[in-house]
Amino acid sequence: MSHSIVVRPATPDDLPVLQELHAALCAAERVSGYDDNADKTFASSPSGQAYLLARINGDGLALVAHDGSVPVGYLVAGVRSGPRGAVSGLESMFVTPVCRRRGIGTALLEQFLIWHRSSGLPSASLAVAPGNHVAIALYEKAGFRGTTLVMELASPARAHNSEA
Ligand SMILES: CC(C)(COP(=O)(O)OP(=O)(O)OC[C@H]1O[C@@H](n2cnc3c(N)ncnc32)[C@H](O)[C@@H]1OP(=O)(O)O)[C@@H](O)C(=O)NCCC(=O)NCCS
Repeated sequence: MSHSIVVRPATPDDLPVLQELHAALCAAERVSGYDDNADKTFASSPSGQAYLLARINGDGLALVAHDGSVPVGYLVAGVRSGPRGAVSGLESMFVTPVCRRRGIGTALLEQFLIWHRSSGLPSASLAVAPGNHVAIALYEKAGFRGTTLVMELASPARAHNSEA
């Protein structure tokens, strides 16, 4: 990773940056077919803002990556309950397209893993669209392995809405 890139915990002043990057992630996720992050207005909604501020303020983890003064990526994580109890959940991450393949995603993921190890929780997990081969390659490189494939049959109304 280039020396001009800095990954650090987000502060309340970074909220607008996280909101913007989260919205960009949602637009990308919609294209890759991952519905859970498809609402690009969520981060700017009152509940989205409360969610991001909670992560920034220590209920979980919020990281931002900068190239000089330019924000180029973020990662948000929290403790979530899985079938075998609490786990460290990587909730979302995004690197701006022009800054990809420079190790920023890896640096964000490394900080998440440090946070996970310090949590004492038995495992870390994340969900990713099966077609998102780039993100899957990043996660597999860090040691993640696919365990469960969740399959859905969209209702006609939902299928119609997703085309909007
Ligand atoms: C996934 C994402 C965060 C990766 O960020 P990045 O800064 O480009 O990642 P890195 O430069 O650290 O790449 C790490 C590894 O990921 C894999 N990778 C990254 N880009 C890749 C590409 N275009 N093709 C294949 N593998 C790729 C490689 O294994 C790479 O290691 P290498 O460069 O040594 O081969 C970024 O592509 C992104 O924001 N994508 C859109 C949002 C998204 O999918 N978020 C995750 C949702 S679950």
